[in-house]
Amino acid sequence: MGKVTFMDHPLIRHKIGIIRNKNTGTKEFREIISEIAMLECYEATRNLPLKDVEIETPIAKTTVKELAGKKLAIVPILRAGIGMVSGMQALLPAAKVGHIGMYRDPETLKPVEYYCKLPADIEERDVFVVDPMLATGGSACDAISQLKKHGCRKISFLCIIAAPEGLERLQKEHPDVDIIIGEMDDHLNDDGYIVPGLGDAGDRIFGTK
Ligand code: PRP
Ligand code: URA
Repeated sequence: MGKVTFMDHPLIRHKIGIIRNKNTGTKEFREIISEIAMLECYEATRNLPLKDVEIETPIAKTTVKELAGKKLAIVPILRAGIGMVSGMQALLPAAKVGHIGMYRDPETLKPVEYYCKLPADIEERDVFVVDPMLATGGSACDAISQLKKHGCRKISFLCIIAAPEGLERLQKEHPDVDIIIGEMDDHLNDDGYIVPGLGDAGDRIFGTK
C-alpha cells in the first residue's frame, strides 16, 4: 500500500491560507504554489537512495553520502500542475519533465486527455505527478493509468488541496502510489469544486478568469 502523507507543517499551512484567499493576485498565487511544491518535494524525496563516496575535507579523508543517481521525472497534469514544476525543479534540477494535458468536462466532471508527451525512458524513472487539486480524483487516476501504460512502476502523486472523495478514489484505483497532500478539505460542491478550496487553480495560476 502506498503511503499517504499530510504536510502538517506551519509554513505550508500559512502559505495555503494565502492562496485560499480570493483577494490573492495571480503573481503571488503562482509564487506560493511553487514554494509549496518545493516543500512537498522535500518530503516526497525522503527515501531517495544514497551511496557512499570517499572525499577529503580540508582536514581529513572521510566518507560522505551522495544521491545514488536514481533517474527521476516530474509530470504535471496541465494546466494547473505546471505551477508546481518550478518548485520541484529547484530541488531536482536533473529530473526530466513530461506533460499530460487533461481538462474536466464541466457537465460530467470526467477528465478528457488532450496531450501526452513523456521522456523516452519514462519507464526507468521514478515519477512525481503534480497537480494542485485532487477533487473527484478522475484526472489524477487517469494520468497515473497513462503512466502505468507507459511502463512506470514507481509513482508518487503530490497535490496541495485534496477532497476526501478524490483521496478515496485514488487509493482505491492506485493503491501502490505514494500520495502527498498539503491540506485535506471538507467536501466537493455540486459543481465538483473543493470546499472551501481555492477556486479554479488553473485560472488563478494563469490569470484566465
Ligand atoms: C483541475 C485541476 C485538476 C482537476 C482536478 O483541472 O488542476 O487537474 O481539475 O479535478 P478532478 O480531481 O475532479 O479530476 P481542470 O480540469 O480545471 O483543468 P485546468 O488545469 O486546465 O484548469
Ligand atoms: N479543480 C480546481 O481547480 N479546483 C477545484 O476546486 C476542483 C477542481
